[in-house]
Amino acid sequence: MSGQRLQLLLLAVVAAVGGCGAFQLEEATVDAIQLGFRNGTVTSRQLVVAYLDRIARLNPLLHAVVEVNPDALAQADRADAERRRSPSPRRRSALHGVPVLLKDNIATRDRLNTTAGSLALLGSAVRRDAGVVRRLRRAGAVVLGKANLDEWANFRSLEGTGGWSARGGQGRNPYVLSAAPCGSSTGSAIAAAANMAAVTLGTETDGSILCPSSLNSVVGIKPTVGLTSRAGVVPISPRQDTVGPICRTVADAVQVLDAIVGYDSRDAKVTRAASKYIPPGGYMQFLKPDGLRGKRIGIPNGFFNFPNGTVQQIVYQQLIDTVRKQGATVIENLDIANLTVIQDVLNNGEQIVLPAEFKSSLNAYLSDLLYSPVRSLADIIAFNDAHPIEERLKDFGQLVFLVAENTTGIGRAERAAIRRLNKLSADGLEKLMAEKQLDAVVTPNDSISTVLAIGGMPAITVPAGYGGRGVPFGVCFGGLKGYEPRLIEMAYAFEQVTMVRKVPKFLSTTF
Ligand SMILES: *[C@@H]1O[C@H](CO)[C@@H](O)[C@H](O)[C@H]1NC(C)=O
Ligand SMILES: *[C@@H]1O[C@H](CO)[C@@H](O)[C@H](O)[C@H]1NC(C)=O
Ligand SMILES: *[C@@H]1O[C@H](CO)[C@@H](O)[C@H](O)[C@H]1NC(C)=O
Ligand SMILES: *[C@@H]1O[C@H](CO)[C@@H](O)[C@H](O)[C@H]1NC(C)=O
Ligand SMILES: *[C@@H]1O[C@H](CO)[C@@H](O)[C@H](O)[C@H]1NC(C)=O
Repeated sequence: MSGQRLQLLLLAVVAAVGGCGAFQLEEATVDAIQLGFRNGTVTSRQLVVAYLDRIARLNPLLHAVVEVNPDALAQADRADAERRRSPSPRRRSALHGVPVLLKDNIATRDRLNTTAGSLALLGSAVRRDAGVVRRLRRAGAVVLGKANLDEWANFRSLEGTGGWSARGGQGRNPYVLSAAPCGSSTGSAIAAAANMAAVTLGTETDGSILCPSSLNSVVGIKPTVGLTSRAGVVPISPRQDTVGPICRTVADAVQVLDAIVGYDSRDAKVTRAASKYIPPGGYMQFLKPDGLRGKRIGIPNGFFNFPNGTVQQIVYQQLIDTVRKQGATVIENLDIANLTVIQDVLNNGEQIVLPAEFKSSLNAYLSDLLYSPVRSLADIIAFNDAHPIEERLKDFGQLVFLVAENTTGIGRAERAAIRRLNKLSADGLEKLMAEKQLDAVVTPNDSISTVLAIGGMPAITVPAGYGGRGVPFGVCFGGLKGYEPRLIEMAYAFEQVTMVRKVPKFLSTTF
């Protein structure tokens, strides 16, 4: 089919999925949904039906969703009944009755599979919901389904799988279908961008929320490690893994953040340590239109290397001007010590410690499953070897798995590597931010993800523009552990004054 015909067909498809009667589904925010519930223009059931319809129509093209929840309608009915019984919205969570998509590495104890995109885990059963899912259910959210991802959250091979998983297929960027959707929370970002769910969850070890959010023009929050529980999440690294929202607006992402943060006895050490960062009264209070005023924002060298005159260079220059006009002090030309060492993931120490952390934590995850066809990393490697076609072994290999399988726990070399990573972080961004008294550093897309990852530090990415061919890019506000309140202030103020995000048009431009 020609590109143009495909595009026309898609536009027709999208036009046909208008939504639910009087309620405007496309771009509906959490607040709009709650208002719709209250004023009677929409029910949770109607929302679920409309999103399922949209998923059915768009997923053959975008491959954002692996599974939809056969119980989603029943959950929606329950939420609708609860609302009818006690109409007062007070004390009810903002996510009550709101459909949520979960990255497929986040466990649910229901009829949905949890597979990290891999056929090896198909048919396995978890003992319990992930900690964040328990919180979402308690908030009354409807689990709509599981989102596609880079298989094994991009930890199978060095090449990565570029938004592909054996179970979900090739995720596509809804703005420019041939452009990279990035990962590993690929489906979550695509689904949010294309209005296939009200809100979604992703996970990040190093860039997996920030990158797909940037490239699919949505908002991603990568929380401080430990702010959100990782219990029941297919793991990579207990030092670096974190779960966070991917949504279309900062306010929606903050609503979700409020619902999922907090102590979890099954991930006790880090969630206890991070609970001191959670502000009384939650995060919504930081949605301030003047949130940039008085902030000190650093622009570190080494990230904005665009040739003069390119769209990106112009847009990012405008962005810095915007931030200044909103009352922030922008400090340019800052150096993060040892930046090239930190960003060299094959030499910074991550290559020593991540495979060892992965093997031991994955094996612990697998052994805790109620039922599973695979019980160890070795089993998964053997499964891939036995299913080379379905698992596209020729294209992507499984070198990282093989390296990880060779590790024997956290020994002397690994502990030394962890100390090195901690020191790189302490001497790097942590020191710079303290010395210059910064509230945030601003960088493009996920380019700073490793700097943040090794220190367990948070960031928010917000849509910043569209490149020459219409491929989205984002701007990232990163900070020290626990800086979520001020990052939210800045990201929200930036979003409100720029309002960059556009609805995707599924362009089939090739390049
Ligand atoms: C009800 O809420 C929806 C969505 O939030 C809004 O678009 C609509 O205008 C409201 N309708 C009435 C009658 O208040
Ligand atoms: C989960 O996987 C099984 C195959 O093992 C499949 O039959 C079932 O439909 C899947 N569940 C959903 C909700 O898709
Ligand atoms: C880009 O343009 C600025 C301002 O015109 C100039 O100062 C700078 O040298 C240029 N940089 C490059 C790499 O051409
Ligand atoms: C794993 O260890 C074996 C034995 O030392 C070695 O032959 C093999 O090359 C190693 N594999 C990887 C991927 O490092
Ligand atoms: C950000 O992403 C856009 C879209 O892929 C790309 O054009 C741009 O070069 C990226 N910027 C950086 C610094 O990676």
